[in-house]
Amino acid sequence: MPYDFISLDKLEKTGIIRLQRPAALNALNHQMIKELEQAFMEWEADENVRVVIITGEKNFAAGADINDMLDFDPEQARAFSFHQCFAQIEAFPKPVLAAISGFALGGGLELALACDWRIADKTARLGLPEINLGIFPGAGGTLRLPRLIGAARAKEMIFSGRPINAQKALEYGLINELADDALAEAIQTAEMLASKPPIALKLAKQCINQAFDIDGMKANHFELIAWASCFATRDQKEGMKAFIEKRKPEFTGT
Ligand code: CAA
Repeated sequence: MPYDFISLDKLEKTGIIRLQRPAALNALNHQMIKELEQAFMEWEADENVRVVIITGEKNFAAGADINDMLDFDPEQARAFSFHQCFAQIEAFPKPVLAAISGFALGGGLELALACDWRIADKTARLGLPEINLGIFPGAGGTLRLPRLIGAARAKEMIFSGRPINAQKALEYGLINELADDALAEAIQTAEMLASKPPIALKLAKQCINQAFDIDGMKANHFELIAWASCFATRDQKEGMKAFIEKRKPEFTGT
């Protein structure tokens, strides 16, 4: 499928998605969201892609496209929603990193929140300014932000609409790392993750994601079943054998 608003690259086993609508600071429109869904679908099935990075050229994304939303009624707003796409990214069975420069606002920050790992540089401005438009974050922000940084700080960001810089985002736990070059650092992190056993990574991600949504007993049980199933993989044998033989493991995803 040809892409108009994103571009896809592969670097070794890392897939890189660049948001590409620079004239609108990468504001997310319907087509862009559909393109993201398509890209993630393609790379889910691609064994050569073990990790995905989402980034933007100068800016990450300044939110949903306000021009598109102006005259929406509630029905149209529901149809425009990014929920499905961001849930797909959150549940993607491989690690997804956000490399953030410049603005990550509104739906742009919510896209980064759906990722597993966020790396920003010092140009980053992260915020949920929707309140200033007469709405509030509607692409998972009210759920994912408080889980990540706690309700008090999430309310501060959502009620005030004020963006924060990368240093504060690091202090809040909103980003994992503050780097000189967000994309370069994300590529290094992706290479490290690409060397890990893919099935164990996938199961660990599922366990962590599900733990928020199911009760503790079920989460424990789910973890046990998933953990035990690792022992059906070649990678488990390889990882433990390599430890005993004092060498680096070679994981194949089998
Ligand atoms: N939607 C549509 N266009 C946008 C946009 C957005 N979210 N953000 C920026 N743009 C456009 C601007 O309209 C402008 O276009 P023109 O050159 O054609 O006028 C261009 O990008 C450059 O923007 P600015 O001139 O405003 O650049 P700036 O450096 O002065 O300001 C900014 C940058 C502070 C990010 C400012 O653009 C801004 O406040 N943008 C809106 C941020 C926002 O409110 N995001 C939330 C959107 S709602 C949402 O995301 C809903 C949800 O929960 C899913």
